Amino acid sequence: MSEIVYLNNQFINKEDAKISANDRGFIFADGVYEVIKYYNGKPFRYDDHLLRLKRSLSEMEIEYDNTENLESLFQELLSRNNLTGKHAGIYLQITRGEHKRVHHFPENISPTVYAFAYHMPSFTDYLENGIKVITHEDIRWQRCDIKSVSLLANSMIYNKAVKAGAGECVLIRDGFVTEATHSSVLGVKNGTVITRPLSNLILPGITRKAIHEICAENGIPFEEKAFTEAELFALDELIIAGTGSEVTPAVSVNGLPVGNGKPGEITRFIQQRFFELT
Ligand SMILES: Cc1ncc(COP(=O)(O)O)c(C=O)c1O
Repeated sequence: MSEIVYLNNQFINKEDAKISANDRGFIFADGVYEVIKYYNGKPFRYDDHLLRLKRSLSEMEIEYDNTENLESLFQELLSRNNLTGKHAGIYLQITRGEHKRVHHFPENISPTVYAFAYHMPSFTDYLENGIKVITHEDIRWQRCDIKSVSLLANSMIYNKAVKAGAGECVLIRDGFVTEATHSSVLGVKNGTVITRPLSNLILPGITRKAIHEICAENGIPFEEKAFTEAELFALDELIIAGTGSEVTPAVSVNGLPVGNGKPGEITRFIQQRFFELT
């Protein structure tokens, strides 16, 4: 069965999905995206994803007023790809649309809307045994709060992690940890979960928010506080969190063990509670 994707109001075979070479997504990376995971057919934190999408669109002044129809569109996409009721991901991308190449935002153009569904199992080995991570300077722009498709810096850095045999790369800006290339970063020190406060320098992660709630409900101290690279190496536990990463323990940083080099107790507890929510 061929894969069915959604493009500009149509469900079509993937091979037939074509966009203009003048699409501003192609020319300027002028677009936003979301990735939503469906667990046994149920989306995790759909409303949070929708709110974040609306915010990204609004920050980039992309006009798209059809967001209320997205949920049924995603269900249709799952159904047409035999993914209803399964663990599946939805990737949605909205670009400003097609226009002759000009640097300002052209008026009266319609956005290009593209979505596809895919089988999205958990990385059980990583969840169980943890991953290695490396560090790298955060060379991204200053609007990392927007979920923009402009991911070249993330991609360049993550590629280094893959080459180094690591599962993620923790980013350092001005000596402080920001996040990772496609995940949020949380540390555990003396029983307290710490993570950088939301700002223009990190994505407001939905998994990060769920972890915050889990901590609040279970009496685990949670502090939003920037921590340095030196503090990163002195953590008891390190969590790499995201829609794809879920709640993954990191067991070494640049080859040095985190804590005792095994997934920590608090990470394990949060992980279990997280999967109860999904
Ligand atoms: C840079 C970055 N930070 C954090 C996250 C985690 O966000 P979420 O938990 O909403 O998937 C992502 C996910 O794609 C990301 O790309």
